[in-house]
Amino acid sequence: QERLKGFGKDADFNPLRVHVVGAGVMGGDIATECALRGMIVTLQDQSVERIAPAIARAAKRFERKFKGKPREARFALDRVIPDPAGHGVARADVIIEAIVENLEAKRALFVDIELRARPDALLASNTSSLRIADIASALAEPGRLVGIHFFNPVAVMPLVEVVRTPASSDEAFRRAAAFVRKLDKLPLPVKDEPGFLVNAVLGPYMYEALRCVDEGIAPEAIDAALVAYGMPMGPIELVDTVGLDIAVAAGKALAGAAAVLPKALADKVAAGHLGKKSGQGFYTWQAGKAQKSA
Ligand code: 3HC
Repeated sequence: QERLKGFGKDADFNPLRVHVVGAGVMGGDIATECALRGMIVTLQDQSVERIAPAIARAAKRFERKFKGKPREARFALDRVIPDPAGHGVARADVIIEAIVENLEAKRALFVDIELRARPDALLASNTSSLRIADIASALAEPGRLVGIHFFNPVAVMPLVEVVRTPASSDEAFRRAAAFVRKLDKLPLPVKDEPGFLVNAVLGPYMYEALRCVDEGIAPEAIDAALVAYGMPMGPIELVDTVGLDIAVAAGKALAGAAAVLPKALADKVAAGHLGKKSGQGFYTWQAGKAQKSA
């Protein structure tokens, strides 16, 4: 407990410039939280069009946060810089990757980043389902890479897992924890094992709920029961929130190649229904609200 309380508090690390690769829900919202705390963030994705939804969400978050202070909101938004060419890599103190859950894509990205980043920049992956060590082994200096694993929705979830591999340097690990503290979140040190800690527990919970859907129980009924029980959100709505593609990746990480996906999940993903972010999952979503028409 004491170690947890102090973790990240002692490190003298004050990042000013952050570069985030991947402007999806997680990458975009991580960038937003950094800008909210005064950091200058370059946000990279394949095109400005792909970055636009993240900027729109950031604008909403800043408007709410700085209600009645439009200048503050404007300044915060100015700190989120769309950067499709990745120019920000060369200047960043912290570089966070939040791209598709594909090992080869992440390894190739970090090989390129390592060539262009400052030698003292902290390198981090937000992966939820891949081993950090398997990404880090692509680097000339694998000790530079750690996992900084946020939860969705980033704005409100207080916990962030900080993942070290046997190769991770103590300095990278300490700096990652200090960075998480700068975002007013609680860094939890975890091992580089499938699911880390939280998803190792949450994954089976969500999968058991999906198996209930396979057995014919309505998603609404499952969610209503678990909300009545006291969970903040039902497990099926949680799958929609996390993203069905991410739920598939997490399931494979936990169960290995032998993973048998719940049929309801596999069917939805095959139909391109990925949850909140695509407007359709087990529920239909409009403006972030479930229309409860599973
Ligand atoms: N952005 C910003 N703020 C948000 C938000 C968002 N996306 N969603 C909710 N909020 C804010 C609301 O504005 C509200 O703030 P206020 O109190 O200042 O008005 C506050 O959060 C509470 O929201 P609501 O009253 O609308 O709704 P809830 O009480 O149901 O809380 C919730 C929403 C916090 C998302 C809650 O439902 C919850 O905790 N759900 C579980 C989420 C979870 O378990 N996430 C982990 C998923 S696993 C994962 O991400 C890992 C991945 O690697 C797989």
